[in-house]
Amino acid sequence: MPRIALIPGDGVGPEIMEAVIPVLETLADKHSMALETRLYDAGDETKERRGTALPRETFEGVRKADATLMVAVGETAKEVILPLRQKLDLYVNLRPAKAYPVPNAVKGFDVTIIRENTEGLYVKAGWSSRDVAVDLRIITRGGSERICRYGYKYARENGKRNVYVIHKANVLLGCKLFRDVCSSLAEEEGFSYRDMYVDAAAMRLAMDRPFDLIITPNMFGDILADLAAAYIGGLGMYPSGNIGDERAIFEPVHGTAPDIAGKGIANPMATLLSAAMMFKWLNYREAANDLEEAVWRACELGYTTPDVGGNMRTWEVCSSIRELLMS
Ligand code: IPM
Ligand code: MN
Repeated sequence: MPRIALIPGDGVGPEIMEAVIPVLETLADKHSMALETRLYDAGDETKERRGTALPRETFEGVRKADATLMVAVGETAKEVILPLRQKLDLYVNLRPAKAYPVPNAVKGFDVTIIRENTEGLYVKAGWSSRDVAVDLRIITRGGSERICRYGYKYARENGKRNVYVIHKANVLLGCKLFRDVCSSLAEEEGFSYRDMYVDAAAMRLAMDRPFDLIITPNMFGDILADLAAAYIGGLGMYPSGNIGDERAIFEPVHGTAPDIAGKGIANPMATLLSAAMMFKWLNYREAANDLEEAVWRACELGYTTPDVGGNMRTWEVCSSIRELLMS
């Protein structure tokens, strides 16, 4: 019986989570999964109320759960998601940017970004004075090796053939190590080694996309992912997984969207697709495919929120997806 920790967070987080939970229940019933879900606090509002953005029981809840589904945390994101990624050693950030049939997506766009998730500029080591600020960018052989192996393995298992390692090894020492490690592993992993500098890759992502899977250090992955979102209808359609050897947290790539919070129009699809990734990771493949297909169908039928051309509200999208699951 999978135990799932749920973190609604801030902004549009709670309204999306509230609408998504019944979809998870319908899916669980249909596929005889005895889900045990539990809600946990985290984020800005939690910090105001309790003095910490990541209370101990939330951390422990995530640590003990089989998987976690989180929506979004506001200004305190670096006090919540970064420690979770680092302390639980969730070294993979898996971001499949695949176009669903919504009017503002580029048909056929399908690029998976595999982002190193615990090192690089995100180690939060550095110092600053009034006039100088230094951020250390730490890249290790071990860290590069495990993300690279994960990337090639994922490519093999998911039929991705054009794997590129994206870096800036002409300038940065860390990237040189990252590149050297990846290039020495490629052949053994069954791929011919291909790479590109990150600046060129940004242009090629927008132009002709020679890659279907990208393996890249932490911050390049963060930036390229938001660029990729522009081709699938925006962040409201983009799911992700923070994955380690034993634990994982799934979350939409979008943030708390304060401009639309409370209006009931936030797009729940990125969270639903993150849930599908979670079920796949938990090995409930049929349920995962079923949920993805229902989201696809809802897009085709125009059962969508305004950001992707529809006029439905968050809960209406979720109840139509429940109906599609039950039909
Ligand atoms: C993301 C976000 C986070 C990141 C922030 C909120 C710390 O932008 O998951 O892409 O930079 O990793
Ligand atoms: Mn980001």
